[in-house]
Amino acid sequence: MRILPIYQVQPGMRLGRSVQDQEGRLIIAAGITLNRRLLSLLEEQGFTALYIADGFDDVELPELVSLETKHEVMKSIRQFVEIEALHAKRLTLSLLPGHLGPSPGANMISKARYDVYMNVMKAAEMLVGDIMSRREVLIGMVDIKSLRDYSFAHSVHVALIALVVGRILGYNRRELRELGIGALLHDVGKTAVSTSLWLKPGELTREEFAIVRDHPEAGFEILRKTSLGLLPAHVAYQHHERWDGSGYPRGLRGEKITGYARVTAVCDAFDAMTSDRPYKAAKHPLEALSFIVANSGVLFDPRVVGAFSRVVAPFPVATGVILSTDETAVVKRLNPHNLERPVVTVTRDPEGNYYPSPKTIDLELHPEIQIVSYAEWYTAPNIDEMLALGGLSGGTADRRAPGA
Ligand SMILES: [Fe+2]
Repeated sequence: MRILPIYQVQPGMRLGRSVQDQEGRLIIAAGITLNRRLLSLLEEQGFTALYIADGFDDVELPELVSLETKHEVMKSIRQFVEIEALHAKRLTLSLLPGHLGPSPGANMISKARYDVYMNVMKAAEMLVGDIMSRREVLIGMVDIKSLRDYSFAHSVHVALIALVVGRILGYNRRELRELGIGALLHDVGKTAVSTSLWLKPGELTREEFAIVRDHPEAGFEILRKTSLGLLPAHVAYQHHERWDGSGYPRGLRGEKITGYARVTAVCDAFDAMTSDRPYKAAKHPLEALSFIVANSGVLFDPRVVGAFSRVVAPFPVATGVILSTDETAVVKRLNPHNLERPVVTVTRDPEGNYYPSPKTIDLELHPEIQIVSYAEWYTAPNIDEMLALGGLSGGTADRRAPGA
């Protein structure tokens, strides 16, 4: 199996890993042979890369969470955002002059809000349960998100990485649940900022950036009024604070920043860097990881970075690498205690010709061979072009070209 940018996927290729929509529902199952219609459907949905079965599919990394958990989690955060928006709208209406007491629907909304909080807690518990039940937890696959529904998928993936890191840091179940809820809803304040601003390609103006910077506080205001506890609210409030005090909104530093927010900050930065966005292409995990490690004790808590680099693979499964022998290989399996030296299938000779029968090498057993860099990173080369072609139509996104 290997990851390919969607523009390189040809009809007739077989899907190596199933594709899900923004609610974690299956769109196309692994094993299906792709045709032109399915490919354009996926492109319209905003997918920029796919896992393709390549005939050497003997090795896979098990999913960290079940499809059912993912679905419940996605559903619960979507419900949360929707019900809070409804609640805010009702509050605004009730403040208008001439408004006579609580509206008839008020009780129903209160009950619905309570139910949604319960669902969020249940979903976080499912997520924690899935992570705790694994013997080995690693972030060893690239999370492919649709550009269109980036926010929810991003929240879930940040929570997933945060829980894996939390487990390494020795958090107990209650702590993991609190961290999970906080990480899932860390960006909920974005709902208070217009969608067009979040999806805008290109640089934000100074005024726009000031609005964006309000989202941690907006998230805190939403979350602290719920029954989800104050700790998750503080994750939303503090996830853009930085270890050296250079973050926002309050410029907190070091251990003044709550531990859950320090974990979420690292995971948020990593997932944002490694995801295709309307305004920038995804970085390779190795680059994102190097950035995080280089900023250990600067932007990020060194203890968190230590735990993070133990579980996040610089060369994820199904990605291409260049070996010190000048050969090209695909990562087939991770060595959990030596993430930099995975098991690889060598596919091409130093001249770039495919081997008729590729050989598999466990780099842990071959210290003489190094991975020198990564090959053929999957990222979509020209997202602006995809936007311009209307491949990502629908929604309320502002589709102006940068600088327009
Ligand atoms: Fe954020």
